[in-house]
Amino acid sequence: IFQIYARFEFTNLECTSIDEHFGKFDSCYLKSVNRTYKYAAGKYILLQIPVNNAIVKIALMKRLNGYKPFLYNFSFDYCNYMRNTNPGNKVTTFFLSLVLPYSNVNHTCPYSEDLILDKLPISFLNYKLTEILPFPEGEYRVSSSLRVNGLKRAHVNIYFKIF
Ligand SMILES: *[C@@H]1O[C@H](CO)[C@@H](O)[C@H](O)[C@H]1NC(C)=O
Ligand SMILES: *[C@@H]1O[C@H](CO)[C@@H](O)[C@H](O)[C@H]1NC(C)=O
Ligand SMILES: *[C@@H]1O[C@H](CO)[C@@H](O)[C@H](O)[C@H]1NC(C)=O
Repeated sequence: IFQIYARFEFTNLECTSIDEHFGKFDSCYLKSVNRTYKYAAGKYILLQIPVNNAIVKIALMKRLNGYKPFLYNFSFDYCNYMRNTNPGNKVTTFFLSLVLPYSNVNHTCPYSEDLILDKLPISFLNYKLTEILPFPEGEYRVSSSLRVNGLKRAHVNIYFKIF
């Protein structure tokens, strides 16, 4: 019997549209199908298309006594990253590799379709975060934000634990 011991678990997902004229979340949720199949999913509807520039900010926090900055806090030009055929920054590449395979945004600008995160499973993240880049045990939060034309448009917080 081949048993998978998942050490990764989502604990919460929060999606906030900061500018409802620019875009809004049609969905944003975690779902537990059974003990081993759990996923995160969401859909952000773009109301001002096409989108030709996007700055993404990512900060990882670890819960100690409240959430404290942990290892990564960076931002990058998403369109530029996608346009660039050379391997970009390793940290950016790693973070993107966690979600891109389950999204519809692995392509260059412009973005005209709704942004979709399609059933990102814990099994995949368990593999990435415990085997590829082993993370220490603990509770984490990834805060991410999207800035377009210089204005903050949306914010997503992903909470997870490694145990
Ligand atoms: C969990 O659900 C998935 C999808 O429906 C299924 O393929 C898998 O066999 C289920 N696992 C268990 C342990 O029931
Ligand atoms: C990330 O860095 C920016 C400036 O470099 C700072 O303003 C922000 O508070 C930091 N965020 C976290 C979560 O540490
Ligand atoms: C993004 O798409 C390219 C081209 O199809 C593919 O080679 C690459 O592996 C994808 N990246 C991720 C992280 O899924």
